[in-house]
Amino acid sequence: MMMLLLACAVGKDVVLYTVEELQEEIEGYEDWAQPAGWGGAVPSCDGTHGPFVEIWYNAVTLQALSAGEPTMPEGAILVKQAFSDDGITKTSMTTMRKVSGFAPDDGDWFWGQFDADGTALTSGAVSGCAGCHAASDQDFLMFPDSPVVSDPSECP
Ligand code: HEC
Repeated sequence: MMMLLLACAVGKDVVLYTVEELQEEIEGYEDWAQPAGWGGAVPSCDGTHGPFVEIWYNAVTLQALSAGEPTMPEGAILVKQAFSDDGITKTSMTTMRKVSGFAPDDGDWFWGQFDADGTALTSGAVSGCAGCHAASDQDFLMFPDSPVVSDPSECP
């Protein structure tokens, strides 16, 4: 009986994606395309990840957004680098990767947060990340509705 239960539990625990895969996939992200207004360290009026941020997305994301897709396809990745008050010193880096079937209730996004050295702080189905991003009306993406300003004093 014990063995049977164990076998069932293991069988259900299918690993769809890992933080190591994410780290590999985002290599060289600083050469990826950037959403208009989010290149260079720009003020984040929200400030959750830091006072200044910069955002990149991969080709899969760019193509889907350009085509006006309401939801991002498998393989879509977005990366956001946060900077401290000086707008130069990198603090944490956050990323989200669409993994079909990974978290159906939370848009199938795999979340990852790394410190300035690239060490993973948190990853996977992170409810704190999904909880806030769920406010988006565009598949958990926040930048499309976030104000783009050149100075923090311009934030609404
Ligand atoms: C309280 C709200 C909030 C929480 C919690 C949050 N985010 Fe965000 N996130 C935002 C906002 C707002 C933006 C848009 C850019 C900005 O204003 O900084 C954003 C942008 C992003 C982006 C760029 C793509 C996009 O959606 O615009 C990534 C990647 C990201 N967040 C990852 C994460 C990860 C990983 C976590 C959890 C560790 C997380 N976020 C937690 C509010 C949040």
